[in-house]
Amino acid sequence: MNVKIADLEFEPLIAAGDIQTRIKEIAAGLNKDYADKAPVFVGVLNGCFMFMADLMKEITIPCEVAFTKLSSYHGGVSSTRRIRDDFDLMTDITNRHVILIEDIVDTGNTLDYLVAKLSHRKPASITVCTLLLKPDALEYTIEELKHVAFRIPNEFVVGYGLDYMELGRNLNGIYKRVV
Ligand code: XMP
Ligand code: MG
Repeated sequence: MNVKIADLEFEPLIAAGDIQTRIKEIAAGLNKDYADKAPVFVGVLNGCFMFMADLMKEITIPCEVAFTKLSSYHGGVSSTRRIRDDFDLMTDITNRHVILIEDIVDTGNTLDYLVAKLSHRKPASITVCTLLLKPDALEYTIEELKHVAFRIPNEFVVGYGLDYMELGRNLNGIYKRVV
């Protein structure tokens, strides 16, 4: 069913059940690859909160959970390229295996900035796991981007953590803008 959020209409794109299926597949891979590495999962707020919570419930290996916050959309429906560092990662990641958890990689501008910033802290490795990727919008080569739950068309989406004007984060599936 379509939903109205502020002045825009959205239609279903990815169902809640399909998200949970992909999360289980990705978690199984991470549980295997990081079994003896005690990784630090770093969520990029706000958008990651629902994906990260559901993913972590499937992670069965010893690990830490931490957060950082960046913003780049500032309320609209397209990336502004102005990244605001809202709060820094407080965990010492020197010699640690870092798994960054993102809601969406659009142009890649935000992720490119964050990977470069965290790389300066000399982690043992950085891997990125994102719920969504818009391949047609991507402008950066980010080698660390190893896990993508869903590749989606270059359209504005909300739900499951993602917002329009700070609304819609609570929806349990992903919805795309009706144009
Ligand atoms: P870039 O272009 O830097 O954008 O890869 C990444 C950040 O922008 C936000 N973003 C979106 N938010 N619907 C949203 O609600 C979208 O379709 C969308 N595309 C990008 C998001 O915060 C992401 O981390
Ligand atoms: Mg984000």
